[in-house]
Amino acid sequence: MLSQWAGRCPDCGNWNTLQETLAAPAAAMGRRQAAAAGRILSLKDLATAEEPRQTTGIGELDRVLGGGLVPGSAILIGGDPGIGKSTLLLQALAALDAAGVASLYVTGEESASQVASRARRLGLNPGGLRLLADNDLERLLAAADRERPAVLIVDSIQTLSSDSLSAAPGTATQLRECAGQCVRLAKRAGMAVFLVGHVTKEGVLAGPRLLEHMVDTVLYFEGDGGSRHRLLRAVKNRYGAANELGVFAMTDRGLRPVDNPSALFLSGAPGESPGSVVMITRQGNRPLLVEVQALVDDCHTASPRRLALGLFQHRLDMLLAVLHRHGGIAVGSRDVFVNVVGGIRIGETAADLPILLAVASSLAERQLPRDLAAFGEIGLAGEIRPVPGGPERLREAVKHGFRRAIVPEANRPRGRMPGITAIPAARLAEALSLLRAEAPP
Ligand code: TYD
Ligand code: MG
Repeated sequence: MLSQWAGRCPDCGNWNTLQETLAAPAAAMGRRQAAAAGRILSLKDLATAEEPRQTTGIGELDRVLGGGLVPGSAILIGGDPGIGKSTLLLQALAALDAAGVASLYVTGEESASQVASRARRLGLNPGGLRLLADNDLERLLAAADRERPAVLIVDSIQTLSSDSLSAAPGTATQLRECAGQCVRLAKRAGMAVFLVGHVTKEGVLAGPRLLEHMVDTVLYFEGDGGSRHRLLRAVKNRYGAANELGVFAMTDRGLRPVDNPSALFLSGAPGESPGSVVMITRQGNRPLLVEVQALVDDCHTASPRRLALGLFQHRLDMLLAVLHRHGGIAVGSRDVFVNVVGGIRIGETAADLPILLAVASSLAERQLPRDLAAFGEIGLAGEIRPVPGGPERLREAVKHGFRRAIVPEANRPRGRMPGITAIPAARLAEALSLLRAEAPP
């Protein structure tokens, strides 16, 4: 076939939209029909022992990994530049080194001396830590095969490129090929491989999202840039619970695990605060108290604003409709702002009831009792539906001094819960009338 220059897509007619991809070699295509059938295994013949876990020495990281590192697993760790990916991994490597686990840190972004000076600043002394400052995929694979570390870190996958492709480093083609090779290396050599990926502004194209399906575990740093707290969330995990959250604080000695994360997400605002409700949410397997604040205000424009920060926007629209139809409370043409304290994102439906209680409280300008928390999913028919983990949620609330909680009827505790009174409600209207009864005048 004659090759020729092509700058315009012959299908859609757009310029500069073509992307280079690697075609399968012709010989391999021909062989496909003749290939022998693959070996079929029976599940019952396969060992079903739990995967062995290597602790990273950092409890919050182990938590999001599902209890430690699994040999042969590929982990993508994404987040904004400067959020602490390299810092966390360097700390983990130092702890692994102290435990006698061999590792290799491939740095394509910083020079070896920059990594060494960060280790010094962090007060780490990973004597056995080996570094490779390189951007070349083939040299990385050769080094990993020779050194056989138990843990390999590629920082970052976006700086890596393969000679076999002519596409520029950082393009989608390079990213996919390099990540694919690293994942195969993990499986082939039984190494735990971390791929660091920056979430770029234009991240849709060459960002870590492209790689999520290739790896076993996807961890993302979240949280607002202004605070020193860093949240590490398992978005996907083949070896543990998804949505598990690790909480850290960035200090001048690197990332420190936060032992009592619930305290972070309570605003602690003294005195009057109508529109503020503490929800008992669950992130992965951990119950967490998080304050949600609503502000309902007069709107001076034609289209009222509905803004949800840290929550799903569409869900807020839906909840406000249920509040109107089944709670008899119309926010009508007013602005509604809902914000989750502490920059955490809540993707759990157990937040529904607290959100509506907060909206109702703001609208009525009536403060809720400060020892009251709530959780529960709300259905379109105005019913309050149960959520998993009721007893653990209540126990977490007790730990933080809450004495009452509005809970779904179906989450009513079987026996007495020491320290807290559960107030069950089956319908939204019921919960709202409880609120009127409970609220201080
Ligand atoms: P880094 O791990 O380099 O981020 P990433 O690899 O995700 O791009 O984090 C760098 C940021 O963290 C930088 O803004 C400085 C800050 N930092 C501290 O506050 N304390 C420390 O001990 C270290 C090493 C970094
Ligand atoms: Mg970095």
